[in-house]
Amino acid sequence: MFTLFSLVLAATAVAQTISPSVLHAKRSHLPAGWSRVRRHTPDAVLPLRFGLVQPNVGMSTLEELLNDVSHPESPNYGMHWTPARVADHFAPSDEAVDAVTAWLADSGLGKERLRVSRNKGWVMVNATVAETESLLHTEYHVYVHELSGKEHIASEAYNLPAHIVPHVEIIVPSIDFNAVVPKRSSPTSTHITLGQPGAGTVSPKLGAVVTNILDDLENCHNQTTPNCLRALYGLEYSPLAASRNSFGIVEYTPQAYLPSDLDLFATNFTSLFGQSLVGARPNIQSIDGGVVQTVSESFDFNGESNLDLQYAMNLVTGHQPVTLYQVGDLQMGASFNNLLDGLDASYCTFEGGDDATQDGIYPDRLPGGYLGNDCGIFKPAGVISTSYGYNEADLSPAYAARQCAEYAKLGLMGVTVLYSSGDNGVAGNGALCLTSNDKDSAQGQIFNPGFPSTCPFVTSVGATQVNPGASVTEPESACEQVIFSGGGFSNYFAMPSYQQGAVTEYLSANPPPYASTVYNSTGKSRAYPDVSANGANYVVAVNGQFGLVFGTSASAPVVGAILTMVNDARLAIGKRPIGFINPAIYSPAFKGAFHDITAGSNPGCGTKGFSTATGYDPVTGLGTLNFPVLVAEWLLLP
Ligand SMILES: *[C@@H]1O[C@H](CO)[C@@H](O)[C@H](O)[C@H]1NC(C)=O
Ligand SMILES: *[C@@H]1O[C@H](CO)[C@@H](O)[C@H](O)[C@H]1NC(C)=O
Ligand SMILES: *[C@@H]1O[C@H](CO)[C@@H](O)[C@H](O)[C@H]1NC(C)=O
Ligand SMILES: *[C@@H]1O[C@H](CO)[C@@H](O)[C@H](O)[C@H]1NC(C)=O
Repeated sequence: MFTLFSLVLAATAVAQTISPSVLHAKRSHLPAGWSRVRRHTPDAVLPLRFGLVQPNVGMSTLEELLNDVSHPESPNYGMHWTPARVADHFAPSDEAVDAVTAWLADSGLGKERLRVSRNKGWVMVNATVAETESLLHTEYHVYVHELSGKEHIASEAYNLPAHIVPHVEIIVPSIDFNAVVPKRSSPTSTHITLGQPGAGTVSPKLGAVVTNILDDLENCHNQTTPNCLRALYGLEYSPLAASRNSFGIVEYTPQAYLPSDLDLFATNFTSLFGQSLVGARPNIQSIDGGVVQTVSESFDFNGESNLDLQYAMNLVTGHQPVTLYQVGDLQMGASFNNLLDGLDASYCTFEGGDDATQDGIYPDRLPGGYLGNDCGIFKPAGVISTSYGYNEADLSPAYAARQCAEYAKLGLMGVTVLYSSGDNGVAGNGALCLTSNDKDSAQGQIFNPGFPSTCPFVTSVGATQVNPGASVTEPESACEQVIFSGGGFSNYFAMPSYQQGAVTEYLSANPPPYASTVYNSTGKSRAYPDVSANGANYVVAVNGQFGLVFGTSASAPVVGAILTMVNDARLAIGKRPIGFINPAIYSPAFKGAFHDITAGSNPGCGTKGFSTATGYDPVTGLGTLNFPVLVAEWLLLP
């Protein structure tokens, strides 16, 4: 039966190869910092990979599957899937494999040249540029990154026969442009940052040097310390189930923490009940040769990792170990897809999935490069916090959708995935906005949302501040010191059902005063962030001294620490982790579990951005976390 079925399909595919050619994907703009320099050589070989459409990854299907295990009213709440069930459920069909291989063979790329990945997700062939251009009715060009000199091969658009379109999700290399940019020589530019995915990043900002720490609650408006955060969010909790719980912080090489800075921080800040963390270190899980490098030391190399780990480790106390996912070797660097490969064998793209022009490609043949290619080597932590991000517009919709579906799979497995929402309000990384042809530019006037925050299957974290002169018990505002909380509306992803009520209420009570050309005003797209936490004046030890640090980079690990303690309370009484939290936190039962932020906005692109409001707003989301109420609500759920 099975063989017959696939034979019939293969025959159908051959019969249809005369189907008309249709445009499948087109890049809307060239990211800032890159220019097109020449046609690529016709006889150069491209490692061409066809990512097949995975069944069940339509956004509404994913949402239904996730709601089943994450919606507080679902009878299956908390019944997360095993990795094997996830792999099985999302494996591409034989029909798709047969149609694509038959088409390629018919087009003169002999069957013996084709390979299908083990998970059936990818069909691969080494094809010359000339062969590829004729196959896809396109042209390949070489682009160069102006600051680093790095080259990148890409096309601007490509076509597929109509009968192949339903089977192919993405082709690499093709139009995508989120190249890993190697380290720059001088740390002067603010929008090209080190070892981080993409030509722009969410990176924390350094303020004044702190010579005198004022660690009492009177001074939280001047200096944010672990005690201020515990007071703001009610995080007085000592873990009970640490051996069964886990909290993961993600860093991309060459970003690295300095052990001496962790100890300096620990000397001045004890954890809850005066517990010392001097000598405490994260458990390193190295993916694709990830190393905590000591070759280069400066705020640009150490700021992010030091900030994330100092606060994450302090807030979960010395009883709960923190996992550090250090991703990428020193030569190649890495992107979010490399992390996801390391965590989920069903996503493993080394067999053909990573885009050499966007992701770290392993084995890395550069001198000293990491010669492995890590696939599903670590069980994902219960909560995973990442303080890096792209502009949504720098990625193709297909690339973003594929990665977004992977976050849904982590949610199905019971993992909470947090991303910081960005530090430029409604503008993108580097404070750039979009022009009418979708180019990142200092002159742009169109809002520039961030990814993965716009993916409906992650929890996006914005930033707040204790107001100047205010006490720690007074309401916070949206962060308006040094940075502005990233927020707005996606141009790629539809509004998930969990936020429809909250966002519709915001839009009708506070109609934004901007034309539909300035942001996605349809009222039907994903709004972000979901929640927020303080992002101003963090006292951080960097390179042997204390300084003030600002950013949603700080907010994400703080939310991660609070949710890790919620997981602890559930695990301690035999319940499962909270997993994907959005359907729960937007539900009526959780209404009192957030401190609503109603002052401030998130300016950018020459505008005031969006305004905060009672209830949800696309500046601070539902508000900051109230740990005692959150934990009580989550203990009531099955
Ligand atoms: C393409 O060529 C590379 C380098 O020779 C080789 O490692 C890889 O297996 C080839 N891929 C396919 C699909 O033949
Ligand atoms: C850190 O604590 C030490 C004493 O333990 C103190 O001498 C030092 O001044 C503190 N650092 C700052 C920046 O306040
Ligand atoms: C604390 O902040 C206020 C404004 O919020 C400022 O005027 C004051 O100088 C700051 N004090 C210290 C000790 O930094
Ligand atoms: C707005 O978002 C919707 C839903 O994701 C999308 O279909 C639409 O294309 C977006 N509009 C613009 C102008 O980007």
